[in-house]
Amino acid sequence: MSSKSVLSVKNLSVSFSQYVKGLKQKIITPIGCLNIDLKAGEVHAVIGASGSGKSLLAHAVLGILPSNAICSGTMDYMGEPLTEKRIKQLRGKEIAFIPQSVNYLDPLMKVGKQIKIGLPKESASKTEAQLLQQYGLKQGDKERYPFELSGGMLRRILFATSVREGVKLVIADEPTPGIHPEALSAILNQLRAFADEGASVMLITHDIVSALSISDRVTVLREGEAIETVDVDCFHGKGEKLSHPYTKALWRSLPTNEFTLYQEVKLCH
Ligand SMILES: Nc1ncnc2c1ncn2[C@@H]1O[C@H](COP(=O)(O)OP(=O)(O)O)[C@@H](O)[C@H]1O
Ligand SMILES: [Mg+2]
Repeated sequence: MSSKSVLSVKNLSVSFSQYVKGLKQKIITPIGCLNIDLKAGEVHAVIGASGSGKSLLAHAVLGILPSNAICSGTMDYMGEPLTEKRIKQLRGKEIAFIPQSVNYLDPLMKVGKQIKIGLPKESASKTEAQLLQQYGLKQGDKERYPFELSGGMLRRILFATSVREGVKLVIADEPTPGIHPEALSAILNQLRAFADEGASVMLITHDIVSALSISDRVTVLREGEAIETVDVDCFHGKGEKLSHPYTKALWRSLPTNEFTLYQEVKLCH
């Protein structure tokens, strides 16, 4: 694995100012002081319970936080600061975002047309055909609307609309919820393939077993803080190589291990 840093997030904090009782304002800080570093050629899983700040981390990197968010800290992409202007230029090109929900697809537009958005006009049809094939879809599927496709197919369409040639950073937010095992492994293999081609992949998920099957490193988020980043091999045996008690408990709570119940370890979504 190359050790070149693709994305380095330091001391990220995300707060929201909310109105309570008329004009009184309250500040909440879902992400306190978060550090994460993503390298070229790696799948880097970000795991954590619902509400731990996984999506906010992705949205902060992509510069798509809601307007009432207050964000601080530094983010470097390829060794240079990831400014607002720079992320706008890179988003959808070198930096791809596969969102958490297939609702990001336009329900009223045929999926083929959605795949073509942002592609150069001259080669759009050819690229569309290649993408359909790459993601195991039939050429005729381009004429269908989202409601005509299964959940697994929609996920793959979402990939085809999000990831472009020359991608260097892929951020996938919960790309595998509720899909059947065959579609699940196709998606995981695809994410692994992006990394093997040299991109860095941030895989946000609550599905630890799937994450461990394709990841190189894992960062555990808890209440908006990255409590531990480890090589995937550390998730082994009784978790002796894991340092944080929360991560150890998370590992032991898996059905394939001791299935130890630990009240705090709820990775539901
Ligand atoms: N727009 C918002 N305004 C206020 N709080 C928010 C907003 N978006 C997210 N949050 C809060 O931030 C926390 C982390 O959210 P999120 O990153 O979506 O969690 P998850 O790890 O499940 O993806 C949650 O407690 C959520 O309520
Ligand atoms: Mg989320």
